[in-house]
Amino acid sequence: MNGKRILLIIGGGIAAYKSLDLVRRLRERGAVVRVVLTAGACQFITPLAASVLSGQEALTELFDPAREARGANGANEANEANEANGGIEANGENGANEVNESAIGHIGLSRAADVVVVAPATANLIAKMAHGLADDLASAVLLARDKPLLIAPAMNVRMWEHPATRRNLAQVIADGAKVIGPEEGAMACGEWGPGRMAAVETIVEAVASCLSERGAEPSPRVGQNDENGERRHNDHALRRVETLSGGGALGGRHVLVTAGPTIEPIDPVRYIANRSSGRQGYAIARAAQALGAHTTLVTGPTQLTPPRGVEVVAVETAQEMLEAVEARLAQLPADIAVFAAAVADWRPASPPKDKIKKGPDAAPPRLALVENPDILATIARLPTGRRPTLVIGFAAETSDVVENAQKKRRAKGADWIVANDVSPERGVFGGARNTVHLVTEEGVEDWPELSKDEVAHRLMALASAELGHHRGGQAQAERRAEKQAKPRGKQRAAE
Ligand SMILES: Cc1cc2nc3c(=O)[nH]c(=O)nc-3n(C[C@H](O)[C@H](O)[C@H](O)COP(=O)(O)O)c2cc1C
Repeated sequence: MNGKRILLIIGGGIAAYKSLDLVRRLRERGAVVRVVLTAGACQFITPLAASVLSGQEALTELFDPAREARGANGANEANEANEANGGIEANGENGANEVNESAIGHIGLSRAADVVVVAPATANLIAKMAHGLADDLASAVLLARDKPLLIAPAMNVRMWEHPATRRNLAQVIADGAKVIGPEEGAMACGEWGPGRMAAVETIVEAVASCLSERGAEPSPRVGQNDENGERRHNDHALRRVETLSGGGALGGRHVLVTAGPTIEPIDPVRYIANRSSGRQGYAIARAAQALGAHTTLVTGPTQLTPPRGVEVVAVETAQEMLEAVEARLAQLPADIAVFAAAVADWRPASPPKDKIKKGPDAAPPRLALVENPDILATIARLPTGRRPTLVIGFAAETSDVVENAQKKRRAKGADWIVANDVSPERGVFGGARNTVHLVTEEGVEDWPELSKDEVAHRLMALASAELGHHRGGQAQAERRAEKQAKPRGKQRAAE
């Protein structure tokens, strides 16, 4: 990181104090750090502390006539001086290089940086980024940014899981940000869950990865020729890029989702289908991807646009869907598999090669049906190691929705079933909203009516938390205790 320029924006969260340590660690690695604090951050740490630790004046104000005038008048002069110095001036304490300040107005702050880091990224800052607001120095700099952006969210678990934050984060990721963390654990507010800012050392590695992705480190300066050590460091950082890419609570995970209907041929031109639009499954794939998962979407025919950044496998029949799922899982085991597709239960036994002819004397053809493979049950019964850690099925019912879903969960060996009432009057098929019940071993949660995107984000947030429990080997009892402490919907008794 020698000589690399990092613009660190500190948001107003309880984790702001850790960002002072982040400044120190980045400078220890040779980086030049310029700090911007939001007004919220100034409630938790002082600009004085940030200035002392960064070796440069920490900035807080958008409307700063002196700085803007220096930026406007000094730009040309400074550019010439910077060119002569390779873009930096060696005048900081500890031998660190500092950016020539004269050319830095609020627009110049991002221009003068190699990477912009937001830590902690508050729910408020993420919302402002998602919507392009620019009403203070931090958000204006972020909107005017032309450099890679790494954000380290930190907030209360409810704020993190709120559908608004999920949507905003998905937008920020779609706009190119990398996300590191948050981590799961006890929070300052006394609750437990994902929301803690990633560890300082982890953020430092992520910054190094961003810088490595952008290009080679600058040439070592005289007296600092530790090329071998630095190179090893960068290799390590590069390896981490893979696990960090996409970032988020599901970073480094593989999520497989099935969606849409299957169509079962009667002959080469006719088929049996169902009313599934695929919207719920696509929303889940988008939500998983937004949380940083490598996401595979195995989809039957739909009218939907494939989500960006998701690996899409298009199939038509149930048989093809099963084969595609098995093939993908054999290549890359999944942490979470969500079976949201409306798979046809039966298919015509032996569709002819040629179109069935309608003749004046011919009786309507009789369709002999055979049962299709049960994709959910097949995958849920795979042996440990090949079975996804969390297998989630969908149950589309028109009566006794929850009871049928409970039976289905047990019969198929799924971990969770998302049950919904697809009676025509509910408008679920093809509609934008859904009212579901989450059926697990522990009981049933009745969720309120939500958009399909909200259902998707809620489900992926819970699935990600569940994986955390698996990873940490938490006891079931602990999970139940936590659930009781923070009910997410109307909770019913266990099955
Ligand atoms: C004690 C306390 C701790 C807070 N911690 C967080 C936090 O960790 N994450 C967060 O997003 N907001 C947190 N907030 C709320 C933010 O400070 C608030 O949304 C503020 O407007 C954020 O401003 P900023 O995004 O411009 O920094 C906290 C508020 C208080 C009073």
